[in-house]
Amino acid sequence: SKRNLILAIETSCDETSVAIVQDGHLLLSNIIASQIKSHMRFGGVVPEIASRHHVEQITQCIEEAMIEAEVTYSDLAAIAVTNGPGLVGALLIGVNAAKVLAFAHNLPLIAVNHMAGHIYANQLVQPLIFPLLALVVSGGHTELVYMQEDGDFKIIGETRDDAAGEAYDKVGRVLGLPYPGGKRIDEMAHEGQDTYHFPRAMLKDDTYDFSFSGLKSSFINMVHNAEQKGEQLNPENLAASFQASVIDVLVSKTLRAARELEIKQLVMAGGVAANKGLRSALTKAVKEELTDVALLIPPLALCGDNAAMIGAAAYIKFKREEFSGYDLNAQPGLSF
Ligand code: KG4
Ligand code: ZN
Repeated sequence: SKRNLILAIETSCDETSVAIVQDGHLLLSNIIASQIKSHMRFGGVVPEIASRHHVEQITQCIEEAMIEAEVTYSDLAAIAVTNGPGLVGALLIGVNAAKVLAFAHNLPLIAVNHMAGHIYANQLVQPLIFPLLALVVSGGHTELVYMQEDGDFKIIGETRDDAAGEAYDKVGRVLGLPYPGGKRIDEMAHEGQDTYHFPRAMLKDDTYDFSFSGLKSSFINMVHNAEQKGEQLNPENLAASFQASVIDVLVSKTLRAARELEIKQLVMAGGVAANKGLRSALTKAVKEELTDVALLIPPLALCGDNAAMIGAAAYIKFKREEFSGYDLNAQPGLSF
């Protein structure tokens, strides 16, 4: 039978990415042009700069993805694109590029939710098994998502304030690390110990919600107080203590939800799913306490933003023929 090739585009934040995905799970190419260096000196993503870089990069990324996958437009079955959530100007570049390709080559257009994409990154590794629970942890989101079946997303818990990745990056800034600090904090945490014992917010309440702004504030206060008194704090121990608090809350809430919802599979998703401490803590906890649940963690390359995950998520809509018109717009605040 014919292979279904989807060309997928992702431009929601600071990576311009184009991928070719076959049948929702086979990755033929996944080009990622990162803009991190351009945003670093501003200590965060500058939306206007992000849009400009997407404009400059998108055409070449599309060409490279096609060349690497050894496909031509006549081989393609659909064009998929992230239409939200994300930065509106950044999203618009991808949405317009996708519309142009769909129109020029007479292909169906598929709109994909960026967060659904993060979850479906797992499908590039192994088939999803339902009902499943996804721990979605990125720079903008921290959510527990329950899925009864393909394409059906129910947020059962979420952060009431900062996202986990956001807290990592803010704490990184206080330690003088370049943006985004998440990865470096993770590395430092492995060289230190939980000596400072930060609070574990909402650990014992009966919701599946999270909160990270209190932890962030305690961290910042501790560093500022020490500075004022001229005291030396150990940066590795600070990182380890911060990370221990984040992981403790994420893992215990996720495990409780997994147990109560009687899921078959637990998946991790989003940039913070690249966190080595979190990956090993969740692996250990599932092994010890959830023996009948399959745990799926994306490889590091598929945790951060990429178009391959968009192509994987698009395949469900492709099969259901849920296509968009040329009036498709960016939806910066799009939810599931
Ligand atoms: O999913 P993503 O690439 O972009 C969003 O959709 O937000 O996530 C980016 C976030 C950043 O906050 C970054 O610091 C964090 O993921 N991150 C990490 C690690 N690698 C990336 N946080 C903790 N540990 C890591 N190893
Ligand atoms: Zn993302």
